[in-house]
Amino acid sequence: MGNLSLQTLHRDSTPILQINPDRLWQSLMALAKIGATEKGGVRRLTLTDVDRQGRDLFVRWCKDAGLSVAVDGIGNIFARRPGTEAGALPVAMGSHLDTQPSGGKFDGAYGVMAGLEVIRTLNEAGVRTQAPLEVAAWTNEEGSRFVPTLMGSGVYAGVYELDYALAQTDLEGISVREALTSIGYAGVAQPHRLGAYFEAHIEQGPVLEQTKTTIGVVLGALGQRWFDVAITGQDSHAGPTPMETRRDALLAASRLVLEVNRIATTFPDYARGTVGFLQVQPNSRNVVPGAVRMTVDFRNAKDATLSAMVEVLKQSVAKVAAECRVSIELKEVVYFPPSEFAADLVESVRQGAEKFGYSQRDIVSGAAHDAVYMARIAPSAMVFVPCEGGISHNEIENARPEDLAAGCNVLLHAVLRRAGVA
Ligand code: GLV
Ligand code: MN
Ligand code: MN
Repeated sequence: MGNLSLQTLHRDSTPILQINPDRLWQSLMALAKIGATEKGGVRRLTLTDVDRQGRDLFVRWCKDAGLSVAVDGIGNIFARRPGTEAGALPVAMGSHLDTQPSGGKFDGAYGVMAGLEVIRTLNEAGVRTQAPLEVAAWTNEEGSRFVPTLMGSGVYAGVYELDYALAQTDLEGISVREALTSIGYAGVAQPHRLGAYFEAHIEQGPVLEQTKTTIGVVLGALGQRWFDVAITGQDSHAGPTPMETRRDALLAASRLVLEVNRIATTFPDYARGTVGFLQVQPNSRNVVPGAVRMTVDFRNAKDATLSAMVEVLKQSVAKVAAECRVSIELKEVVYFPPSEFAADLVESVRQGAEKFGYSQRDIVSGAAHDAVYMARIAPSAMVFVPCEGGISHNEIENARPEDLAAGCNVLLHAVLRRAGVA
């Protein structure tokens, strides 16, 4: 049975090792049951008990595959398969198991399950690699419950101090430290050097599907700047308070939402601008709102353009504050410039698609990924596959089993090329 996945492709006379598409799909579907929502999505917020269940399942599968599992101080999980060459740096694959509050089955989960499927395929075929292989599940990629986003990979790459990350709190005041301890994933493993990092992911946008392309060869990712915005006006009575004397924080927020949209639609270089979170105080229908907390997420392919967007936002903030007679505090909570992946690893992804005869195109990631921070400490690259309607961060997120299998085959090829077959 062991050689079942060794198949000969018509366009190449040598046998090519291939992953098991059914096993990959079944793993994704089993994982998606943990935190499953009524609409077919997944709600597995980072460091909740549901996240623990997802982690536990992943760890069990890793142990069943003969991997040794280590957890570090921010809860990142590393599952290792030894190589044959002493001292060779591990080649890692991975992504994240946490989801958005109304997330889907594939964002993050795919990269982790694809890494595991690569290992299972090698086990079954009896293939050893010279360098060790690792599957990593990074903590709090989404940045939804706790900011900053890319927290686990950020700590690992030295972008954030561990203590800084552990001290962050959610809206209920629970810290990362408390949440991590309560789910039993505050580990002690120290960061180790990696030889390379590969991440497979659904595209989360429409390009691959619209162009009928199976593999996205990811050149890099947009830079991002995230802000927390605190607007302070004054609560007052909705009836007696004249319009011209109000200090309406929600009116100011509304104008800022429009400004964020205007900025993102007028700047070039894949400019994006989103207000995804808004909290109104006291949130009562007959009180002029005295306080609003909101967020701004700016993205761009060029760092200079990203900075220019922020400059305009600051001007807008000053203008809106003066005109609405409120104070507005803008606090930057995430910044990373546009990133580029390692040319030789990107080439491996290209070659992988070529080898299997999959259609491919170069693509830039609009989403953040752990690979962005991993690229700072090890050569890194990503493989994208299409998702239905380009929809992600949504419970209806969907992807075709054959595309997920194709991306995993490309991952397998790229990893083997880097790690070396023993
Ligand atoms: C991660 O999901 C992002 O916000 O790009
Ligand atoms: Mn993701
Ligand atoms: Mn996401």
